[in-house]
Amino acid sequence: MTATQAQTQTRHDSHVKGSIALRAHPTPLQRNGSLNKYESFDVTPVIGSEYKDIQLSDILNSADKDVLLKDLAVQVSQRGVVFFRGQDITAEQEKELVDALGVLTGKPSTSTLHIHPTTEDTSPKGDQISIITSKRQSEYSRGDRSKLASVGWHADITFEPVPSDYAILKIHTNPDAGGGDTLWASGYEVYSRLSPPFAKYLEGLEALHEASFFKDAAKNYGIDLREGERGSPANKGGDLSAVHPVIRVNPVTGLKSVFVNKGFTRRILGITKDESDLVLNYLFSLVSENHDLQVRFRWSTNNKPGIGDVAIWDNRSNYHTATFDYGRSLRVGDRAVSIGEKPYFAHDGKERRESLGLPSWHQ
Ligand SMILES: [Fe+2]
Repeated sequence: MTATQAQTQTRHDSHVKGSIALRAHPTPLQRNGSLNKYESFDVTPVIGSEYKDIQLSDILNSADKDVLLKDLAVQVSQRGVVFFRGQDITAEQEKELVDALGVLTGKPSTSTLHIHPTTEDTSPKGDQISIITSKRQSEYSRGDRSKLASVGWHADITFEPVPSDYAILKIHTNPDAGGGDTLWASGYEVYSRLSPPFAKYLEGLEALHEASFFKDAAKNYGIDLREGERGSPANKGGDLSAVHPVIRVNPVTGLKSVFVNKGFTRRILGITKDESDLVLNYLFSLVSENHDLQVRFRWSTNNKPGIGDVAIWDNRSNYHTATFDYGRSLRVGDRAVSIGEKPYFAHDGKERRESLGLPSWHQ
């Protein structure tokens, strides 16, 4: 038995059926209409909304800041991802905003902002900003890289026991020729495509998420893995693994979503490895092969220093992936990731299509 198999078996034994965190679901939050004065549109029927004539920095300086940001948080959780063109928001303001989205929608007081395990302690914008740069990406992806662009679908940092609720990314430097689009996919809609008996089966299961590859990456970069608290007292140490329910309920919307992802989920517990591989690969294919539950965002190219498009998404109920089609061109952005609650399943969670009065896939 390899070390990884032994670890999986240990977790398998210690997470018997019935250990899933269950709780009565809080009343879903409703939008308060405070953002209706700004023009926006839904990018696809299932996922994604976009604003053009609004500066997030103005919202942060507004007397109604908390009302506006709470509305934004609910919209992000309902629509999966919300885009803002031409933003002047700074990295410090990104941190303030994404933390506020979680705080205003009831995240635990112990949850703050994530410190990525591979962020250097001398990072120029501080511990809580991940600088997303094509320079590091090209170093990191050398070697035996998959030729399937869809291999990168993930939700952020699900290897942490208390993972992310919201994340924000601003791309301020983008190649003139374009490229580097980001895609998001709806975990609510993936759940909707499961037949009720299969969904019910999955609702009783948990899965192991892990990111030991970040240990190798840190070694390659010549930096020490961040083993102190990473945004929650539960997120520390060098293990970089966690067990989460396969089906999760989003506390803001009360909606069920599939919560396994190709990037970090290794094993469904309590069933055989063969069964786990079969089920996980099917769930991953629902994400990557259904372009009608995805949205693709083209980041604007501009030459104005400090200006860039912004995306804000809910990591609890969505997946995303990058597009590495820009060669050696420079593409740089700042990302901040808020820590949310420990994932849980609630029997009174709802299926998205039914909650919106849309036809079921299974009638
Ligand atoms: Fe990500």
